[in-house]
Amino acid sequence: MMKCDVITLFPEIIRPVLAQSMLKRAGEKGLLDVRVHNLRDFTEDKHRTADDHPYGGGAGMVLKPEPIFRAVDAVRSQGEPVRLILTSPQGRLFTQPLAFEFSRETRRIVFICGRYEGVDERVREGLDLEEVSIGDYVLTGGELPALVMMDAAVRWVPGVLGDPESANEDSFSGALLDYPHYTRPATFRGLNIPDVLTSGNHEAIRDWRRKQALLNTLKKRPDLLNHPGRAEENRKPLKDLGKERGGKLS
Ligand code: ADE
Repeated sequence: MMKCDVITLFPEIIRPVLAQSMLKRAGEKGLLDVRVHNLRDFTEDKHRTADDHPYGGGAGMVLKPEPIFRAVDAVRSQGEPVRLILTSPQGRLFTQPLAFEFSRETRRIVFICGRYEGVDERVREGLDLEEVSIGDYVLTGGELPALVMMDAAVRWVPGVLGDPESANEDSFSGALLDYPHYTRPATFRGLNIPDVLTSGNHEAIRDWRRKQALLNTLKKRPDLLNHPGRAEENRKPLKDLGKERGGKLS
């Protein structure tokens, strides 16, 4: 069971995504519990102001600290321990190991969605939070990143995917990209599926898939093969594959 809170100026970006497909099913099965909080509900002026101009001048608006602290206090006052995440392009990169870690987190994961030009720095200074980025590009806000992180994490919660092996076999779990998949029809616009997949020889199929995953990775993301901590385990299969293919690996 993964428990999350999303603090956002745009709850309507979050809610419809939670109401579809796997995230919806995870919610219905009691494996994902997400509470969405509108940051405006934690403002105190009559205009419900959540942002303001930056001190020192310059373009854009900055999210005010008070509503964010109040929203976090409100979540904390529910009594459960929390893990605070600020979505930000300045954060540590979100990758599969962190997705897995989130799926095993027993505290509520509270996503504070940044917006506009930034968040008042005292949010970082005054709250014990972790800053996480979903990639080296700048989005207009942290709502999509919060959804991306919940989606990537919930796949690892036991019972969310029909087949518990699915999460394991996919790209990146073994730091390799996935092997190619085919479904019916066996011939489509003159394109056939590989014979081995209909051979009934499970060992041969496993072998073929392992090699294809390696080739796929070599072709599309060779950087993954040299990942520290992975380079060693990839060395032998790569060498074998090279020998088998007469030195041709692409
Ligand atoms: N907010 C804006 N850009 C972001 C990114 N790349 N990751 C997380 N939060 C963000």
